[in-house]
Amino acid sequence: MEDLKRLAGRAALREVESGMKIGLGTGSTVRHFLDALGEALAQGELRDLLGVPTSEATAARAHELGIPLQELHEVVPLDLAVDGADEVDPSLDLIKGLGGALLREKMVVQEARRFVVIADPGKMVRRLGTQAPLPVEVVPFGWRSHLTFFQVLGAQPRLRTRGESGEPFLTDNGNHVVDLTFPNGISDPRGLQESLRGRAGVVETGLFLDSAALVLVGTAGGSISRMERNP
Ligand code: A5P
Repeated sequence: MEDLKRLAGRAALREVESGMKIGLGTGSTVRHFLDALGEALAQGELRDLLGVPTSEATAARAHELGIPLQELHEVVPLDLAVDGADEVDPSLDLIKGLGGALLREKMVVQEARRFVVIADPGKMVRRLGTQAPLPVEVVPFGWRSHLTFFQVLGAQPRLRTRGESGEPFLTDNGNHVVDLTFPNGISDPRGLQESLRGRAGVVETGLFLDSAALVLVGTAGGSISRMERNP
């Protein structure tokens, strides 16, 4: 699987041109994209790039690779955002956030003219929510008060914890994440997004709807499958 992630990550380099302002996603697939970007900069194949990282982990890796970084507000609009996904459905809607960076990822994507997703074939699903839980970022205050609300929406909620300590996981924004499992998948992603975002204390969800323009998937044969959103 790592080889297929590398294939997808490196393929995204072809979407990058010198002078671009790029949103840099988070996760193991994006690490390969960052490596490719760092190499292209070091070898002079690309220049004058500016990146906006979606997590502290991505910022640290980009720094190591010599990729220049900027604050989001200094470079909007972005030309491109490149990020991984946890699930991709046939209409290119996504679940993201198993890495916990969903809020910054969504803020960066909303400022990008084009959003390119890089993935391995294990991420492709017929219906969202059938393989991955849906991460929901909530403020720590009163987080337990949401649990019944989530259950009424058909989900089995579980607070994300850190390793074996049992301590709540904290996002880079100091919030908690509740992972929602839907036994039969998510039948109405738009309705669910609206219900969740309408609740005070819910900061953001991992549903990325109508945002990916292109999905690049590394395939076992060594080629790249390209799926573009219908205009
Ligand atoms: C990070 O919060 C996520 O949205 C990642 O983009 C997603 O989990 C994909 O990660 P991998 O590339 O590690 O599978």
